[in-house]
Amino acid sequence: MEVIYSIQNSILELSYLVASVLFILGLKKLSHPDTARAGNLWAAAGMAAAILFTVLFHKMDGKPIGNIGWILTALAIGSFIGWYASVKVKMTAMPQMVSIFNGMGGACAALISLMEFPHLQGNLVGEAHMFNGPAIAILLGLMIGSVSFAGSMIAFLKLDGRLGDVKNPTLRVINLTFLILLVVALVLIMLMEPVAGRNWPIYLFTLAALIYGVTFVMPIGGADMPVVISLLNSFTGVAAAMGGFLYSNQAMLTGGILVGSAGTILTILMCKAMNRSLINVIIGAFGGHEGVGTEATDKTVKEISLSDAAVLLSYSQKVYIVPGYGLAVAQAQHLCHELDTLLNGKGVEVKYAIHPVAGRMPGHMNVLLAEADVPYDKLVEMEDANNEMSNTDVVIVIGANDVVNPAAEDDPSSPIFGMPIIKAQDARNIIVMKRSMAAGYAAIPNNLFYHPKNRMLFGDAKATLQKLVAEIKSL
Ligand code: TAP
Repeated sequence: MEVIYSIQNSILELSYLVASVLFILGLKKLSHPDTARAGNLWAAAGMAAAILFTVLFHKMDGKPIGNIGWILTALAIGSFIGWYASVKVKMTAMPQMVSIFNGMGGACAALISLMEFPHLQGNLVGEAHMFNGPAIAILLGLMIGSVSFAGSMIAFLKLDGRLGDVKNPTLRVINLTFLILLVVALVLIMLMEPVAGRNWPIYLFTLAALIYGVTFVMPIGGADMPVVISLLNSFTGVAAAMGGFLYSNQAMLTGGILVGSAGTILTILMCKAMNRSLINVIIGAFGGHEGVGTEATDKTVKEISLSDAAVLLSYSQKVYIVPGYGLAVAQAQHLCHELDTLLNGKGVEVKYAIHPVAGRMPGHMNVLLAEADVPYDKLVEMEDANNEMSNTDVVIVIGANDVVNPAAEDDPSSPIFGMPIIKAQDARNIIVMKRSMAAGYAAIPNNLFYHPKNRMLFGDAKATLQKLVAEIKSL
């Protein structure tokens, strides 16, 4: 039996190594749309192998783990829910789903800690304190995982429009105080004498971390949400890595570290995209659905007819499309590609200017346009697109708002001041396609709509593009 157990253990260790390699290769492949689908499958295969071999070959106190039936049932139910949600989710609701999934990861890490703390405490009875590596891993996993879970749930409600921002400056002070108290509590719990069965301190700690998760995300709003989402993502990774430390499980450790570091890099990139420091996002007073910023409501907007728009586009040399959240809402990506192909056929050069926080999740526009088979080399990053704006004949802004708002450049009182934007106003002509004069996510007015070069093409992006394509075909 010993020999069999030893072989099983070697297979288990090997499966963790293979899983780690698959995670890394999968992540690498995720960095390009052409290979992203395969990357996802590779990483998923790594995770499936790690789970399967753990269930089969992991030993507890020298014996195979029990409750296999329960474990497999839970796995089947969880996998079905995840698969069903992913198949059914609308493209526009993807950010909300990502938030929920991220929160679940945090909750898992927290639950592991909640289960393991009583074991650790029981094993240390008789010692003077619990100041050791496993206790640090458990408590950090619990704290970060709980914050990530509660914060992700609030982010979900906000992205889903069910919850507004709480703009109370004192909340930020309370938050900072709370964070300091949490860290102090963490140290105090470790300094306590271990008493078997005394679990109230850890339950109280969990509750406090959950409350902090809620109050941490509540005041952050408006255009700042992208940063918070990627930050919560990195929290979940770090919390999972704590579980990896605790169990000396390489697959969990590698997976957690990869998610944690990828999330951190994304947070840094998002901060750069918003021209913000992380501290400013967390304790600053940016964003929010306050409806502030420059606006002159007595201004009038010019409209453009479909036939004029069709003629203007058809006789242009260079056109830039600026896609935004409204394009995803309207599910007009295929028509957008059709317009692009049609204009190409008429000798018009068409490119897409991609703002890093357009839409509601990192890479939202890239995913959306890839779904419509728009060639990836047509997607131009914001800075490069801005360099070409002055020799662009027409910019068509489709369902975008905040990412083209000039207030970010010329109105220091605007909540989005300092955020780099796509400089649609530099092009020779601007067409903004949206349903009304309503504001975007940051809830601030947009003076681009009143720009002398701009003309509005009101209506749902899908219906309008359909008519525009028909109009161009009839020319
Ligand atoms: P937004 O500023 O949110 O503007 C979207 C515009 O689309 C709205 O003004 C809306 O105007 C229009 N729209 C909605 N449905 C439409 C439809 N069916 N047809 C045509 N137009 C439609 O979008 P954006 O420019 O992409 O900027 C993104 C914002 O979200 C930024 O503030 C960003 O910080 C924030 N955010 C981003 C992320 C990530 S990670 N990307 C995450 C959370 C928040 P009408 O109602 O008048 O049509």
